[in-house]
Amino acid sequence: MSKKILVLPGDGIGPEIVAEAIKVLATLRDEVDLDIDLDEALIGGAAIDATGGPLPDATLELAKEADAILLGAVGGHQWESLDISIRPEKGLLGLRSELNLFANLRPAILYPQLADASSLKADIVAGLDIMIVRELTGGIYFGQPRGVRELDNGERQGFNTLVYAESEIERIARVAFDIAGKRGGRVCSVDKANVLECTELWREVMMKVGEGHPDIELSHMYVDNAAMQLVKWPKQFDVMVTTNMFGDILSDCAAMLTGSIGMLPSASLDENGKGMYEPIHGSAPDIAGQGVANPLATILSVAMMLRYSLDEPAMADRIERAVDKVLDDGLRTPDIMSEGMTEVSCEAMGDAVTAALNS
Ligand code: IPM
Ligand code: MG
Repeated sequence: MSKKILVLPGDGIGPEIVAEAIKVLATLRDEVDLDIDLDEALIGGAAIDATGGPLPDATLELAKEADAILLGAVGGHQWESLDISIRPEKGLLGLRSELNLFANLRPAILYPQLADASSLKADIVAGLDIMIVRELTGGIYFGQPRGVRELDNGERQGFNTLVYAESEIERIARVAFDIAGKRGGRVCSVDKANVLECTELWREVMMKVGEGHPDIELSHMYVDNAAMQLVKWPKQFDVMVTTNMFGDILSDCAAMLTGSIGMLPSASLDENGKGMYEPIHGSAPDIAGQGVANPLATILSVAMMLRYSLDEPAMADRIERAVDKVLDDGLRTPDIMSEGMTEVSCEAMGDAVTAALNS
């Protein structure tokens, strides 16, 4: 039976980078027997303009039926003045929550060809390969109560709630341990257990799940220290597992160690391996429509989709090898350009990866 892929281009550079990723996916579909159906829908600002809301019912329905989702990016200046409850980002958060995509995998890998792009010294980042496992449907992002209320003295007070049930911590812990088992065998759980009761429980549950994985080395780190260690000696980490908000922050930090946020894909998975795949960078409205965006993170997100949701690891390898090849050949979009390399457009990069699939 053919697998259904829902494509959500979104805003800003979203449509451009998704077009290149689809080019790669469609080439594989036509060449080898990859039985997939592609459908497209609106999300984010594009959906607000067309329907009044960032996550139309039609999109949610298609997303629920799909086996996997490829998303570009959402957001842009023109929607920033809208109420926070109907901004483009709510489309993304709504999808994560409605589809129960609780496990967010964010690899931070340094491509040796791009070692110069890092702001850290080459020996600190050479060979960097960290997997950040971020809890994605709980914590302070979704906790109730939340809002802005008026105090007795007439002053306004903003509030959000950090909550985690044991079962939510357990399931993300299992994902982290499983992944570590297929990589370096080490999990570092990041919390703020010295201050926040909620993450004291987080640590306790991590240890409990860890007891069932004696082959995996579990360590714990406070989030402030983790931020420092990521910049000081990032290669000490294999898998990092953490809460929704800490993961949001640490994954941007880890991404920048590689010097190229335009290179990093992500997967957001439910219990059954259904997933949404997206580059970790944003919609970059300042360069949208100019043909200069880097499509590689989105193309690599397709590789993650093949690996985690479509059970086609060999095809995922092929895409990753093709990306390696175009980098070896010196092709660079402006964000990763350096001396002596060949600057190419978003489209030319997509074409080059497509051509390299067979090399
Ligand atoms: C991310 C983004 C989102 C988040 C925004 C766009 C809602 O920063 O995926 O990291 O905070 O989760
Ligand atoms: Mg973020």
